[in-house]
Amino acid sequence: MEQIVINGANRLKGSVEIEGAKNAALPILAATILTSEGKVNLDNIPPLSDVIIMGKVLEALNIKVEFDKFSKTMSIDATADLNSVAPQELVEKMRASIVVLGPLVARLGYARVAMPGGCAIGSRPIDLHLKGLKQLGIEINQQAGFIEATAKDLHGAEIYLDFPSVGATQNIMMAATLAEGNTVIENVAREPEIVDLANILNKMGAQVSGAGTDTIKIKGVKALHGCEHSVVQDRIEAGTYMVAAAVSKGDVLIEDAMYEHNRPLISKLIEMGVKIEVTDAGIHVVGPEVLQPTDVQTMPHPGFPTDMQAQMTVAQLMSNGTSAMNETVFENRFMHLEELKKMNAKFRIEGNSAILEGPTKFSGAQVSATDLRAAAALVIAGVIADGETRVSRLEYMDRGYYQLVSKFKKLGVDIKRVSIDESGRETLITDITDNSKLA
Ligand code: EPZ
Repeated sequence: MEQIVINGANRLKGSVEIEGAKNAALPILAATILTSEGKVNLDNIPPLSDVIIMGKVLEALNIKVEFDKFSKTMSIDATADLNSVAPQELVEKMRASIVVLGPLVARLGYARVAMPGGCAIGSRPIDLHLKGLKQLGIEINQQAGFIEATAKDLHGAEIYLDFPSVGATQNIMMAATLAEGNTVIENVAREPEIVDLANILNKMGAQVSGAGTDTIKIKGVKALHGCEHSVVQDRIEAGTYMVAAAVSKGDVLIEDAMYEHNRPLISKLIEMGVKIEVTDAGIHVVGPEVLQPTDVQTMPHPGFPTDMQAQMTVAQLMSNGTSAMNETVFENRFMHLEELKKMNAKFRIEGNSAILEGPTKFSGAQVSATDLRAAAALVIAGVIADGETRVSRLEYMDRGYYQLVSKFKKLGVDIKRVSIDESGRETLITDITDNSKLA
């Protein structure tokens, strides 16, 4: 078993480099399925386990993937005859691979993709994906845990999404690029990762407009081709380090971070008394001696991101009073609070709100991650807790945070990653820089 061991409390100081966005890289890799000529050359690809799995899904479709994890570049060649089945064991490992369905059925006229499971934070239905694809003329059959999609006549449509689902927007948008005629999708997701996907689709020869607004228009084309693209920076990784600086009375530059991609988080941190300066080099965060409480509600972009909810509850628990966190996007995303209770957190849950009592004197404890962002929240709590904190279930963390231990160490935190054998013997391990773990 592996654990992160942190001795607190620490004040973060220095600057931190942010990777390319996981939640942009994954749909962008799926989009390469659409390119029937030329190669797609990508850079700023985060070397994360989710990205590796998506690469394996593409290889199973007979797509050539070369990933240089050190230079964070990827070259993808999807010009061969593709397979039409996405393997069950990979789709179940990484539910986001459901976004290969739209591009695959648009390219081949047929696709078979395993139903993605739910996960700890919610049942993660895909009804909106399937409803939109059907409106494009795609026949959907669900049986034996698989989705079978057939597109005899892929045509444009006027689609309204009941909820601005990120995945549904991506799946439908990609399928529509090769449909006959025009598609209008209303009430779409507006996340920066949607804009990044639309940008690369247009570089591939698609005609997509309106990304980042609530309506996207697509004019279908015959075929898409290779291109070059650099993945947008990960606003959630950037936001994670902003919160870590804010709660540790730190003084940190988040390199090349963009104010536009984190406005709701930044305005909430300023409300709490955090000093934030937007500079040419990135976003400079200085944490105050005392944080003021503030209420937060997660919403689809441009609202406060649900992927920053767990991290933000640590700041609210540190603050000098009572705060509410209202989670409106996922039905079960407060599991990290049960773990933080072991570190002295006091809270109560009322429906989809958590009422958080601060200030908390966090003390170190053995805790375990329950999902990707919960892992980040537990590490942040460990950074500011008195004593030793051990975080386990690191496979969640490795899905979304590259070299987290090295980055926190560089910011002055007493932190290490160890592997513990059956006899309890601990061996220090480097961050997954040797990338063997990413094989
Ligand atoms: C993406 O998931 C992200 N994942 C999530 O990030 C993020 O939390 C989420 O968007 C919201 O921003 C990737 O991009 C790989 P949704 P996705 O479809 O596309 C309901 C992380 O930590 N819904 O916008 O699955 C659904 O149940 C991860 O990096 C339907 O009801 O999110 C949920 O309540 C976690 N029917 C809500 O919409 C559907 O057909 C948001 O889901 C689809 C979704």
